[in-house]
Amino acid sequence: MDSQQKHSIEMKGISIEFPGVKALTDVDFKIGSGTIHALIGANGAGKSTLMKVLGGVYNHYMGTITFDGTAVNIKTPRDSIKLGVAVVYQEVDTALIPYLSIAENIMLDALVNDMGHRQFVNWKGIRAAAKEYLKRVNLDLDIRTLVQDVSLADKQRILVARALAGNSRFLILDEPTAPLSQTETDELFELMRDLAQNQNVGIIFISHRLPEIFEICDTVTILRDGEKVAEKPISEFTQKDIVEHMLGRKFDETYPKTAVDIGSTLFEIKNLSEANGAIHDVNLAVRAGEIVGVTGLVGAGKTELCKTIFGALRIGSGDIILNGNPLKINSPHTAVKQGLALVPEERRKEGVLVEEPVYINLTVASLNNFSNRFDFVNTTSERVAAKKIINELGIRTPSENQKVAFLSGGNQQKVAVGKWLIADADVYIFDEPTKGVDVGAKHDIFELIGQLASDGKGIIYASSEIPEIMGISDRTYVMYDRTIVKELETTETTEEEILFYSAGGQ
Ligand SMILES: Nc1ncnc2c1ncn2[C@@H]1O[C@H](COP(=O)(O)OP(=O)(O)OP(=O)(O)O)[C@@H](O)[C@H]1O
Ligand SMILES: [Mg+2]
Repeated sequence: MDSQQKHSIEMKGISIEFPGVKALTDVDFKIGSGTIHALIGANGAGKSTLMKVLGGVYNHYMGTITFDGTAVNIKTPRDSIKLGVAVVYQEVDTALIPYLSIAENIMLDALVNDMGHRQFVNWKGIRAAAKEYLKRVNLDLDIRTLVQDVSLADKQRILVARALAGNSRFLILDEPTAPLSQTETDELFELMRDLAQNQNVGIIFISHRLPEIFEICDTVTILRDGEKVAEKPISEFTQKDIVEHMLGRKFDETYPKTAVDIGSTLFEIKNLSEANGAIHDVNLAVRAGEIVGVTGLVGAGKTELCKTIFGALRIGSGDIILNGNPLKINSPHTAVKQGLALVPEERRKEGVLVEEPVYINLTVASLNNFSNRFDFVNTTSERVAAKKIINELGIRTPSENQKVAFLSGGNQQKVAVGKWLIADADVYIFDEPTKGVDVGAKHDIFELIGQLASDGKGIIYASSEIPEIMGISDRTYVMYDRTIVKELETTETTEEEILFYSAGGQ
């Protein structure tokens, strides 16, 4: 193995267009082995697209790519793999084959050759090798386990193991930490450091969390609107510089909190338990105009609570009460009909219809408001409402007709949030709505939530990001081990106190 030899990949003058979108304009980008290089920029800036060019996903770009100074032709994923480039895309789930074992997924490239399937498979060798790579990424799982049965964090590791199996010299991680807990993130960083320092791998890391960039990267490249606007060693940047480069304007980091008169109790849950114990004995109340935080560590039951209230998990016992009337919720459909809205955590699976245009996605949850008494949908008013939300949330799309699949990851998340802002619900439940959205868009989402509150709606805001909870909520509940263990007035508490109760302190 050429483990200590220095390699470099250089992309020069890369430009690429899609119908109606100039995604990249004349971008230069270079990475060497043994280093960790951050690629950052607002949602839709072109980060994933640049990495897809390097990964051979597109063949209609302009510009050149060189490997150790020699021009190379990257036009298919296989070209890229052959050069030792492995990409772990933002959509981790789609990159693995769920019904195959971990071993088969890691060794996929050995199982499939240029012609399709191999004629002869050395299963013994494949299993032994898979075991070895699993060890190198510190994953203690049986290689016979089906990929559909492992957690998202472990799937990422399996993808990294697959990259190692392909003898990759360069590893691209596109927003790997967005779905991870703090501990899982720390573990991934440890693995990244080991790969860079001891195994000479060059890593490109994409993330919207600035502290992570400062923790793990050597160099930072910033894209804005498809162009490179800055590139320096991390030590020469401050967080503020980075944000200003990303957004192209000065930016106030504080979360906007609109002052709202809080009314009487609007929504209550009493002794709520999920049928299979996903949450138990939860009590919570929201007043009109109030933003109530639900926080706790990953795994404490926040998502399960949101889903149970919304009828996506089965209610075992307890009451859900709106305006003094008990609701009968046995499915998300019945929840929506009775005035609830949920922005779910897993947007790809539950939040958006990727094959449909943006405007359909934005209005699908509130079609009642767009149909006349003969049930004909008025597409003109649908489009008007959609355009308004596109503007307010700064959704980057050539028009309201664009298929959601063509939007960047963060812009898809904005669509998932936006559709509920159009729906006229009484109570809005947000489950980690800012995952993967850039700092500017986060601001816009908070502003809209503030608007909902001033319209007298009740808001439940579930997040493990304590600074967000501190910034946006009036009151917050802390979850631990599948139930609410503490209620705190936000102005009277501290991050430390919230963490104390999140960790099971009493
Ligand atoms: N296949 C495609 N067809 C049409 N437009 C596309 C396609 N792929 C990307 N785009 C557009 O190119 C631009 C850049 O998208 P890209 O996914 O690279 O952004 P990003 O920087 O990764 O953003 P995010 O932080 O939200 O993931 C966006 O405007 C996006 O909508
Ligand atoms: Mg992206």
